[in-house]
Amino acid sequence: MVKAGNDSSLTVLGIETSCDETAAAVVRRGADGRGEILANVVRSQLDLHAAYGGVVPEIAARAHVELLDAAIKQALADSGLGFKAIDAVAATSGPGLIGGLIVGVTTGKAIALGLGRPFIAINHLEAHALTPGLTDGLDFPYLLLLVSGGHTQLLIVKDVGSYQRLGTTLDDALGEAFDKAAKLLGLPYPGGPEVESHALEGRPTIKLPRPMLGRSEPHFSLAGLKTALRHAAEKRAPLSPQDVADLCASFQEAVADIVSDRTARALALYEERLGNKAQRVLVVAGGVAANQRLKAALEAVSRTHGFRLVVPQPALCTDNAAMIAWAGAMRLSRGLTDDLAAPVRARWPLDPDAPPAIGAGVKA
Ligand code: KG4
Ligand code: ZN
Repeated sequence: MVKAGNDSSLTVLGIETSCDETAAAVVRRGADGRGEILANVVRSQLDLHAAYGGVVPEIAARAHVELLDAAIKQALADSGLGFKAIDAVAATSGPGLIGGLIVGVTTGKAIALGLGRPFIAINHLEAHALTPGLTDGLDFPYLLLLVSGGHTQLLIVKDVGSYQRLGTTLDDALGEAFDKAAKLLGLPYPGGPEVESHALEGRPTIKLPRPMLGRSEPHFSLAGLKTALRHAAEKRAPLSPQDVADLCASFQEAVADIVSDRTARALALYEERLGNKAQRVLVVAGGVAANQRLKAALEAVSRTHGFRLVVPQPALCTDNAAMIAWAGAMRLSRGLTDDLAAPVRARWPLDPDAPPAIGAGVKA
């Protein structure tokens, strides 16, 4: 039996293996459209990659093979349900590291085939984008700032499958910039939380550039800031703990200014495109959303523009499978399923019609 439509509740098993989290979850979408997380298992591979200062794709893929079956078993046990209660299986099919994607998608397809239930190929970025429907019951449309180790995007979320990309990064993702800043200051991976905690002891007195400020399109560029930080650090070497703290504080202030300016521009564009009757909500998701300095900056920007700020709880902002299962349930409720030939995709832009950002590299 294949259920679809808005009139019945749907229970979906979600699988996430696009980067360094091996995750499985069971989510139910009620007939009233509300979501309920029945199980949410995340096995971080952080300790496997920490020694290398970043995620090693081959190590990640092998670890997914080892961890995924147990994560799925655990998710089903936590949900109190058996496989028979699952209406569909949703797996991240891109964008991400191809080896890991193959592990998750192949497993998801095999379970779907065995159960005789639909398989749903999920765009990882869409799952982040739809999360506030699960966590806050938020309706469309809203503006999303997605900032993690792999993504930096400003998107108008209009509906399932309907996105308008306003801004992206021309080079490094925001979390990646934090990680690289930490590395060049001798701090461990992941760098974001390290930079944030050292910044608390520092003064933001070191002059650093704010690339792209004032540009009409809300794109980001972070490589120049990182290079300027390297020069500032080299000038002061050998670095005292106070130097490190001051460099962290100065870097974080520069990032806060950049994010505020770029987001303010996107809020204006959102109103321009949708009219001022559209609900004024800014959603921030991704690991970098945990940064308190950035959150304060975004609160100020939202207030100034009359927007409400929604930040899902950290466990659902960072990579997880509940968001994959929820995206699956949303798609299933609209009759959107995929066949077993659905490919994995290293790149998969949410808005294929977005013009390439001038000067951008190859990131989705
Ligand atoms: O969403 P996430 O857990 O994984 C993906 O990248 O998909 O994001 C991880 C990123 C890392 O780059 C990490 O350094 C950054 O989020 N991050 C932070 C903070 N906590 C995590 N960046 C700045 N401040 C933080 N407190
Ligand atoms: Zn992500």
